[in-house]
Amino acid sequence: MSGPISHHNPGEGESSPPTEEATADQKAQMEQAYAQMRRKLRMTRLAEDIGHKIMVLSGKGGVGKSTVATGLALSLARQGKKVGILDIDITGPNIPKMLGIEDTELHVEDSQIHPADGPSGLKVMSMAFLLEDPDKPVIWRGPIKLGAIQQFIGDVAWGKLDALIIDFPPGTSDEPLTVAQSLPNIDGMVIVTTPQDVALLDSRKSINFSKTVKIPVLGVVENMSGYTIRGSAQPNSKVSVMGPQGIPLEATSNDDGDWSVTIDLFKQGGGESAAEEFEVPFLGSLPFDPGIVRGGDDGVHRIVAEPEGETAKAFDTVVENLLAQLAKGEDDAPEIL
Ligand SMILES: Nc1ncnc2c1ncn2[C@@H]1O[C@H](COP(=O)(O)OP(=O)(O)OP(=O)(O)O)[C@@H](O)[C@H]1O
Ligand SMILES: [Mg+2]
Repeated sequence: MSGPISHHNPGEGESSPPTEEATADQKAQMEQAYAQMRRKLRMTRLAEDIGHKIMVLSGKGGVGKSTVATGLALSLARQGKKVGILDIDITGPNIPKMLGIEDTELHVEDSQIHPADGPSGLKVMSMAFLLEDPDKPVIWRGPIKLGAIQQFIGDVAWGKLDALIIDFPPGTSDEPLTVAQSLPNIDGMVIVTTPQDVALLDSRKSINFSKTVKIPVLGVVENMSGYTIRGSAQPNSKVSVMGPQGIPLEATSNDDGDWSVTIDLFKQGGGESAAEEFEVPFLGSLPFDPGIVRGGDDGVHRIVAEPEGETAKAFDTVVENLLAQLAKGEDDAPEIL
């Protein structure tokens, strides 16, 4: 037999005093375990204080997740609910800008961060408030990013809320997984898609992700669904509008002479058919509205700028359907919303 021979007997050395290194190691491990326990406790308390926790996801970027998350939160807040919005996009947070509150300085008390105040009493938390330079990209390495997200959720003093809307970066990577695993009792996820095939394909991934983490899909929202042109003409007359690719679109004006034509910028109904295929609810569609882009740039969300407008009404319908889904999921739980 070659190689070193071990003279170690089982049991030997167990009673010998621990080395300094071993004690430091044990101490560090214990501290880590305590920190984890405290965080878990905070998460549980948070979960109890917040009536409904809703994740907003999409497979593809730029489909309007943040616009939709903010719109849902504002629509709920306008109904008198206590609502919070958590912008978990830690590398490119943009919700404070959408709401025109990016210059808010957050207040810290008892090592808890107090969220910023948005329109209609909305409470807003975003990494954007904590970044020195919002234009400088933040690069997080995996484990640090996950720790930061957990801390970010657990250290915020939301108080009692009827609902918390959580906005994510695109995809189903680390961020939604960390939240799904750390925050107990999440009601479900809302999947945002545009009617395009590629966005739909990616939203299928989100639906599969929901199965993996065992969090239900509350529904699919189709964003940028169609663009409506309006005009007036002689009452009850035919109007022809040149649509995309030179194809004329016909409309008939009503008794007051008003007419409207909806152009399917991408294609309509894709969100609804994807929802059907996956047997998940369809919550509604939101029109393409150039005012949303302007509002996003000016920091006045479309719902705030025009609370009775077509877009605000479309959001209200989506929220109504969402509330119906939430109510279904909690037949035996106390009614909060
Ligand atoms: N219904 C809409 N009509 C017109 N423009 C819209 C609509 N929804 C979103 N937008 C615009 O599309 C762009 C992307 O929207 P948003 O930032 O909400 O998408 P996102 O999915 O959150 O993006 P990211 O993947 O980068 O997080 C923005 O300029 C926004 O103003
Ligand atoms: Mg976004």
